[in-house]
Amino acid sequence: MQNDIQEVLISEEEIQAKIKELGEKLSAEYEGRDPLVICVLKGAFIFMADLVKNITVPMELDFMAVSSYGASTKSSGVVKIIKDLDESVEGRDVLIVEDIIDSGLTLSYLIDLLENRKAKSIAVVTLFDKPARRTVDLQADYAGFVLPDAFVVGYGLDYAEHYRNLPYIGILKPEIYSN
Ligand code: PRP
Ligand code: MN
Ligand code: MG
Repeated sequence: MQNDIQEVLISEEEIQAKIKELGEKLSAEYEGRDPLVICVLKGAFIFMADLVKNITVPMELDFMAVSSYGASTKSSGVVKIIKDLDESVEGRDVLIVEDIIDSGLTLSYLIDLLENRKAKSIAVVTLFDKPARRTVDLQADYAGFVLPDAFVVGYGLDYAEHYRNLPYIGILKPEIYSN
């Protein structure tokens, strides 16, 4: 499977160093606020786990599963809720944890939803950002790395559900998805 990777773009060490930095910033920001930290499954599961270990303030965690890509490299534009939150967001300081922002459609849908449910504040932390691919006007409050417009996998990001377990970010060989 690792043979399908053309090039490692961001190493495990670089990722972990960046997450420490993000954790320090978020610990300062959420001091005394008991945030509800929301993981957007499936892609954000590894980042969520590593990030919350680096945030030192009390918090609650919740998980939501949404999908817009399926087994394609392009967003369908339709965001499907596969699993909703267990907790109420009303009056809460919500921190959404995403692995990547691409078109921005997933997050703009989620932010609208949580605003309608009367969250007190909504902030977004994403580990990876592809600003060149935005189709909606949306920015993360906290972002780790800006990525080029290549199809990348690993550290939660999949192609047809594979490669999520790689501890680094790699570029997939084009022949894997171009047939
Ligand atoms: C991926 C990724 C983000 C979203 C970003 O999720 O994990 O959630 O797409 O793309 P966008 O900004 O264009 O909406 P996907 O729908 O593939 O589901 P997954 O997390 O289960 O892989
Ligand atoms: Mn996702
Ligand atoms: Mg996906």
